[in-house]
Amino acid sequence: MARKRWRYHASLAGLTFAALVATLNWDSEQHWLDRLSIVSAYSCLVCLSVALLIGPRQAIRFGKPIVNHYLRRDLGIWGAVWGFGHFYLAMLLSMNNEYLERFVYADDLPFAEATQYLLYSAGTIAGFLVGVVFIVLLGLSNDWSLRRLGRRKWKRMQRLAYVAFGLIMVHGFAFQLIESRQLALVGGMAVAGAMVVFAQFAGRIAVKKAGGPAPHR
Ligand code: HEM
Repeated sequence: MARKRWRYHASLAGLTFAALVATLNWDSEQHWLDRLSIVSAYSCLVCLSVALLIGPRQAIRFGKPIVNHYLRRDLGIWGAVWGFGHFYLAMLLSMNNEYLERFVYADDLPFAEATQYLLYSAGTIAGFLVGVVFIVLLGLSNDWSLRRLGRRKWKRMQRLAYVAFGLIMVHGFAFQLIESRQLALVGGMAVAGAMVVFAQFAGRIAVKKAGGPAPHR
């Protein structure tokens, strides 16, 4: 298992490195820090979405929920690493007057000033809350926590990943509206959200049909 986990980490580190190189060499008018902020945000979203699809997939295959799954855990860890990278960059880029004047108080924005401000505040608060939840989840992502808390409690706390995912949706859509993002990116986030919700339902139904316990109980 240790070798398998090293393979997971090596693959995820390789993908991270490739994404960083591609972002930095991407020929674009955008500043490289802006690019890195967006790429890190989406990389986090992808890692977390895939991690949250693993449980339902196993439930559908085997008819019972799983507690610990190493690939899911490792994806969560790398998602949090990307998330914190974005957290730092986004704070640098958006928590200042220049950003507010461009995306909150300007005259040519899609919504009224009060709405832009509301979106900015809600998006920022949700972003900070994701950071807090990620710290708790990172603390859980090891065998020591699993042993110490016991499978039941550990699993219950691990469900915070869904809270993080929900907050990322609120946060991401708020900033997408503020910055009038391209439809493809808005659609991408919506598809990720829908897949995770749909998979949850499908997993629960599969476990019920197999006569097992409800997932994560
Ligand atoms: C770990 C916590 C966070 C996660 C997982 C996260 C995730 C995301 C995601 C998925 C988007 C994509 C929406 C898009 O622009 O198309 C986004 C955008 C954005 N986020 Fe976050 N976010 C986090 C924390 C923060 C914080 C604390 C701030 C600062 C207030 C912030 C500011 C922004 C900004 C300004 C955008 C717009 C595009 C950009 O510059 O990257 N985020 N975030």
